[in-house]
Amino acid sequence: MAETRHFLSLLDLDADELDSIVQRASELKRLQRAGTSHASLPGRVLGMVFEKSSTRTRVSFEAGMAQLGGSALFLSPRDTQLGRGEPIEDTARVLSRMVDCVMIRTFEHEKVERFAEYSRVPVINGLTDLLHPCQLLADMQTFREHRGPISGRTVTWVGDGNNMCHSYINAARRFDFRLHIACPEGFDPDSDILAAAGDRCEIVRDPMAAVEGADLVVTDTWVSMGQEEEKKQRQAAFERYKVSRDMMDRANPDALFMHCLPAYRGMEVDADILDAPDSVVWGEAENRLHAQKALLEFLLN
Ligand code: CP
Ligand code: NVA
Repeated sequence: MAETRHFLSLLDLDADELDSIVQRASELKRLQRAGTSHASLPGRVLGMVFEKSSTRTRVSFEAGMAQLGGSALFLSPRDTQLGRGEPIEDTARVLSRMVDCVMIRTFEHEKVERFAEYSRVPVINGLTDLLHPCQLLADMQTFREHRGPISGRTVTWVGDGNNMCHSYINAARRFDFRLHIACPEGFDPDSDILAAAGDRCEIVRDPMAAVEGADLVVTDTWVSMGQEEEKKQRQAAFERYKVSRDMMDRANPDALFMHCLPAYRGMEVDADILDAPDSVVWGEAENRLHAQKALLEFLLN
């Protein structure tokens, strides 16, 4: 029997595998738009465990499985035994005897690793406090569709050194781009994740200097899920790190703007940036659907 592959981090796949998923995602998008059936996973079932809120991740996985001829189950701790303390290991053993793949969105990254250890079927990280790899598949697909391969390009991350930033660091390794990280002191990304990326990733404190030479500018909320109590303090610390028109004008002339959403207009990004011609955020959100369908095909076929 072939080894079960998981997608807990972009680093679980090699560069060629990631590249083929991103290209297949664009193909699936064309098929979907042409109304051509592409039911490559008939009868397969995805279990989705959500311990945090979600709009895009839930809908894209659920719609994606339906379009591939399978189905998806939404499981929340509120109405499963997970919420009453059934161990993650036991849940993994049981669920993976019933479904073909499991997606988990939770707090501690260690929880998805433990789940995968006890699972017979592929496990997908639908976001943890540490990483958000599914979003990066969509972002890489989006860049490619607008500007061609991202390899050799420069990306600037503006804002918190959070789960999305960590996944951008891992993406820089796998997709071979340079990454400038503009974050205030005290909000740096994890030092091990950063160090492992070598000199292709660097922290540039001044956001205006960091966007110079950028082909892509990316930001995210300053207050991630689970950090609600730090909201005031974070808003003060990140004040200089709002993506504005002035900032976009300092980047390369054809630079794109991305945001994984949900966005807080007037906080991490000025309201007009989201709908400006250089913003690709709506297509980026749509690509969650296509990219994850390609990921499901890769893991299940
Ligand atoms: N970007 C993203 O993961 O969105 P949701 O939290 O709505 O799933
Ligand atoms: N960094 C954000 C991403 C939301 C999709 C969070 O973890 O809440």
